[in-house]
Amino acid sequence: MGSLVDSFALHNLNKKIVMGDNGYVFEDVPHLSDYIPSLPTYPNPLKKNPSYSVVNQYFVDEDDTVAQNIVVRKNSPRGIHFRRAGPSQDVYFKADDVNACIVTCGGLCPGLNTVIREIVCGLYSMYGVARVMGIDGGYRGFYSKNTIPLTPNVVNDIHKRGGTILGSSRGGHVTKKIVDSIQDRGINQVYIIGGDGTLKGASLIFEEITRRGLNVVVVGIPKTIDNDIPVIDKSFGFDSAVEEAQRAISAAHVEATSFENGIGVVKLMGRDSGFIAMYASLASRDVDCCLIPESCFYLEGRGGLFEYIEQRLKENGHMVIVVAEGVGQDDEQVDVGLWISTRIKEHFSKEKKMMINLKYIDPTYMIRAIASNASDNMYCTHLAQSAVHGAMAGYTGFTVGPVNNTHAYIPFDRITEKQNKVDITDMMWAQLLSSTNQPSFLSTARSADNIEANKDEEPPIQLSDEETNQLSFLTTRVDINEANKNKEPPTELSDGETN
Ligand code: F6P
Repeated sequence: MGSLVDSFALHNLNKKIVMGDNGYVFEDVPHLSDYIPSLPTYPNPLKKNPSYSVVNQYFVDEDDTVAQNIVVRKNSPRGIHFRRAGPSQDVYFKADDVNACIVTCGGLCPGLNTVIREIVCGLYSMYGVARVMGIDGGYRGFYSKNTIPLTPNVVNDIHKRGGTILGSSRGGHVTKKIVDSIQDRGINQVYIIGGDGTLKGASLIFEEITRRGLNVVVVGIPKTIDNDIPVIDKSFGFDSAVEEAQRAISAAHVEATSFENGIGVVKLMGRDSGFIAMYASLASRDVDCCLIPESCFYLEGRGGLFEYIEQRLKENGHMVIVVAEGVGQDDEQVDVGLWISTRIKEHFSKEKKMMINLKYIDPTYMIRAIASNASDNMYCTHLAQSAVHGAMAGYTGFTVGPVNNTHAYIPFDRITEKQNKVDITDMMWAQLLSSTNQPSFLSTARSADNIEANKDEEPPIQLSDEETNQLSFLTTRVDINEANKNKEPPTELSDGETN
């Protein structure tokens, strides 16, 4: 057992930054040896594994790092780098000494079971580890429930099922009780699968473990269908959720095309970001308008949504609108799908006296309660194995994920410090606009007259983040508040609708 770590040393542990030439910055992750001196090491058993032993490149080099930014110019600084994930030459655990546990926390996500399966099987088949236990029902399971034994046999088929075989919960994070339980049970590898809140909890567990000087590694595996985790290329479950979301869009399209002036409105999950809505819209090609929290829109007047709907119905006779759940949300939660459907119906029946057939589809939890698809299964396998390699190599207090297509070990705070948003100055948003033909709303919201006057010369708009947020805030939220003021929506929701 190592010495107790004071808070100053702990801070340094969390921030292992190495500077190199030409602006190279290496943000390394903590290691057991940072606070427990003279730990023994052992040759990696994969060196004797016929699948791995023959090719040296299967192992990562101590000095391998992964660049965060790969779009560079001749004189750009080399920028931030993370430790490359993968099997190391030496490990810090003997197979018989490992006592690992896995916990899943927060909302469901396709691929949870695959990650669980591959941690268990990876530990077993690559490192000969047989003692792995599941924590029942999220963080609180550490101190309130019995553990679940996990063997390759137990987890053999679980990747074909949605949900998590371990159960999940929100909250329940009491650092002291959790670390007491880890210590009492003799656990020395802790795998925590969850979203940003869960990973903040994982970071506290790591800090308490180092404070107590325990020979225990803590590994976080980021999870959310919303894909709003920074640094990593994408989060697991996102692809599967997008695929399922497309089914709702297809249904909306079928309904819309089967009735005169048919409009299909689909609301998709994404509390704070529009990734699911944008990707599902781009992938399906049936969508005429996609509304996300990151981009403004407005209903009335020239260049507004109503005008666009009318134009689209005249041209095509039908249309599909996708709206991300986070659009226009403030403190009070309004079902934006219902709200927008009601406003469209009112506009066309009362103001335009135009008959429309609007169908509202809200697949809610259906897009995340499914089993993972092939690409997520592959991804989860790689993630779990990267996590296992890192833990066996003695790294701790880290998360794992692909950075520019190469798996890396990333410090907790990098993952939890902010949420990723759709960047509407990125080319993908332009692709979305051109695939749907919807107005960007930005130019009109900003200065319709100016654009009219300079139609041919208007330069492309360069928006700052702040400006984009402001526009989004003003144009979406004001309308929803207006609707509430007039006592129209919020509509009474049935349980099915609120779920
Ligand atoms: O997983 C993230 C998410 O899908 C959000 O988009 C959504 O708002 C939220 O989960 C809802 O989950 P819960 O009802 O479990 O809080």
